[in-house]
Amino acid sequence: MNTGAAVLALERVAVTLGERPVLREVSFRLETEQFCALIGTNGSGKTTLLRAILGFIRVQSGRVDRAAGAVGYVPQKITLDPGLPLRACDVVALGLDGARFGTRLPSKARAARVQEMLRAVGAEEFAEQRVGALSGGQQQRVLLAHALVRRPKLLLLDEPLANLDVGSTAEIVALLRRLSHEFGAAVLLSAHDMNPLLPAVDRIVYLANGCAVSGKADEVVRTEVLSRLYGYHVDVLRVHGRVVVVAGARDESQDALERDPVHTITVP
Ligand SMILES: Nc1ncnc2c1ncn2[C@@H]1O[C@H](COP(=O)(O)OP(=O)(O)OP(=O)(O)O)[C@@H](O)[C@H]1O
Ligand SMILES: [Mg+2]
Repeated sequence: MNTGAAVLALERVAVTLGERPVLREVSFRLETEQFCALIGTNGSGKTTLLRAILGFIRVQSGRVDRAAGAVGYVPQKITLDPGLPLRACDVVALGLDGARFGTRLPSKARAARVQEMLRAVGAEEFAEQRVGALSGGQQQRVLLAHALVRRPKLLLLDEPLANLDVGSTAEIVALLRRLSHEFGAAVLLSAHDMNPLLPAVDRIVYLANGCAVSGKADEVVRTEVLSRLYGYHVDVLRVHGRVVVVAGARDESQDALERDPVHTITVP
């Protein structure tokens, strides 16, 4: 890696699954404590990208450079069986052992670390409850504590906001932002809706068409930038305080000229 502060650097990464080129050329960097949203529609390759960063999927070409140290990961769509005989605190403790499942009694240091993480994510109240019986938002906090317990310098979260209500979404976003600073971790969080994240993130990686653009939100979420990425005209619009990206005319000539004034937006 060229520079000291980069926790993650991707350079022209390409990934093919089966016959399908899912990622064609993805490049971006993530630095210490940066809170970054990985934005893309369903099927754009967000999960594939996160799995390639983790080394679960082979990269066809390009490079993935990761700083040394633990990586925390919460996969998409974890379903916790209501009958799972584990309490929230047990799930967090399992994070200390990586993927290894064991029943050994935690040492004092382990127990203290687990307590610290439960407190950090606001899960102390339900620490002793069966994890399968918790609400979606509560489970999300427990999974976050599980991923953070080894104090990773890089935290990869795949759609952690899916299935959360507006209030829980805002809480989890604020929590993640605070924790990334508190633990000095860079966070890469995938989502298909950027709106709840825009006020909180330092950066955006926007994935479409197998490629990515990255930067601050107001640099990336722009009509001309995203149109170039998609390879056809899209409009970035503000509707009722939300940013929406809509497919525009593929024939840009007349249509685009007429609509150009509404393209200018400022993202908070
Ligand atoms: N094992 C596989 N073999 C072939 N194609 C695959 C495989 N896994 C995923 N794909 C395809 O790769 C593309 C990207 O999938 P991926 O799951 O990374 O998208 P995503 O952005 O995470 O979508 P979502 O928002 O629905 O989670 C999709 O078109 C999908 O059909
Ligand atoms: Mg996905």
